[in-house]
Amino acid sequence: MTTTPFETAARFDSPDFYLGDPNATFKELRRVEPVYWSAADEMWVITKYDDIKAISSDPERFRSERIAVLMDVIAKRKGEDPQNYGNRGVMFMDPPEHRSHRRAIGAHLTPGEVAKMEDRVREVVKNVVDGLPDGEFDFIEHVAEPVPVQVFAQLLGIPEKDWSRVVGWATTIAHVGSGAASDDDMTLIYSEVAPFIMELVAERREAPQNDFLTMLTTVLVDGQPLDEVQVLTYALILLAAGSETTQSLIAGLAHCIDEFDDQRQLLFDDPSRSGDAVEETMRFWTPVMSMARQAAVDVELRGKTIKAGDAVLLAYASANRDEERWGPTADEFDITRRDARTHLGFGIGEHFCMGAALARREARLLIDELVERTNGIRITGEAQLRASALVHTYDRLPVTLDRR
Ligand code: HEM
Repeated sequence: MTTTPFETAARFDSPDFYLGDPNATFKELRRVEPVYWSAADEMWVITKYDDIKAISSDPERFRSERIAVLMDVIAKRKGEDPQNYGNRGVMFMDPPEHRSHRRAIGAHLTPGEVAKMEDRVREVVKNVVDGLPDGEFDFIEHVAEPVPVQVFAQLLGIPEKDWSRVVGWATTIAHVGSGAASDDDMTLIYSEVAPFIMELVAERREAPQNDFLTMLTTVLVDGQPLDEVQVLTYALILLAAGSETTQSLIAGLAHCIDEFDDQRQLLFDDPSRSGDAVEETMRFWTPVMSMARQAAVDVELRGKTIKAGDAVLLAYASANRDEERWGPTADEFDITRRDARTHLGFGIGEHFCMGAALARREARLLIDELVERTNGIRITGEAQLRASALVHTYDRLPVTLDRR
């Protein structure tokens, strides 16, 4: 590999990099080396908005097929070659298989479908906010984590008495989603989570309900029903993909409301701005900081040759601060920004987030509930950022509500 004029000690797969000041490095990369070969990570780091958009819209040349960890482990335990297992999550599929799955499953998560779920989502959010204590509490434990997990547990069709179990599994499920599952995580999945879901699936086959588990047992992909392992995989993937990510968006909202008092005032004075605040938080905070692709053929980009087989990191966090796209105010949090919705926080193109409409609605409904009862949220204790190279969030965020 040729050496590049710009060198950085940053390791883009290391949580330490993201705990530091990644935006400063990204800014420099965008300026001098927007298509950067990180020798230490052995991957290309792409930092410009337009480049990430183009790559995401080109699944023939930039592919997502990697074996999801869950399936890898299942296959190994069965003594099979994971490459032949043939059951990967939708994130790791490529066209044409990917299109078929998106058409079938994505159809149940469109903005129109999610609008029909509003009452169910609102009820969960309202109950969580109703139960908040008066003094200082951990916003992660009491709000950011339970809201998405309970919402999705409710939509999947998990009985309410079991929601706390599912929230307890959230970290494990998130590890599966991010590909970081340990042996202990997998043991929990096999001994508790999978049998629990499979039992509910069997019940749905007997007595269909208006929920996602029923949908997964009846949906046809290219005319074929999903098999048992696919149903389980989808249930876990949707839970995994939607939990830590939405937790991060909600944590980011609290962070921004605390940090930018003028913006808090604008939002709490006029709650019709909740949608704009969610989009600007998606841009400014960027819950999922990056995703990866693999080049299928040699591709020329900004004078560099990305070779077939090379890994490519799409740095969404950088695209969302790209001055060329957002202008001189790129680093400011501004809920009146007109085009914040064009951020890349949910990805773009072929793999655009299937849960975007649901996550947006959850966050908006949460703002509604907070605005109704409070004048804002204050971070009143020592917050702890999560050590992660993928998700931008807090492990601990002590807050106090400024009650009306
Ligand atoms: C704020 C919350 C969320 C964020 C920031 C987020 C972020 C993302 C991103 C960046 C991608 C693109 C992956 C890529 O380009 O390779 C993605 C894909 C996906 N997300 Fe989300 N997500 C969120 C919530 C959800 C929820 C609630 C669900 C499920 C109900 C969900 C399900 C999915 C699925 C299934 C995919 C794969 C789509 C595909 O490969 O075609 N996400 N998400």
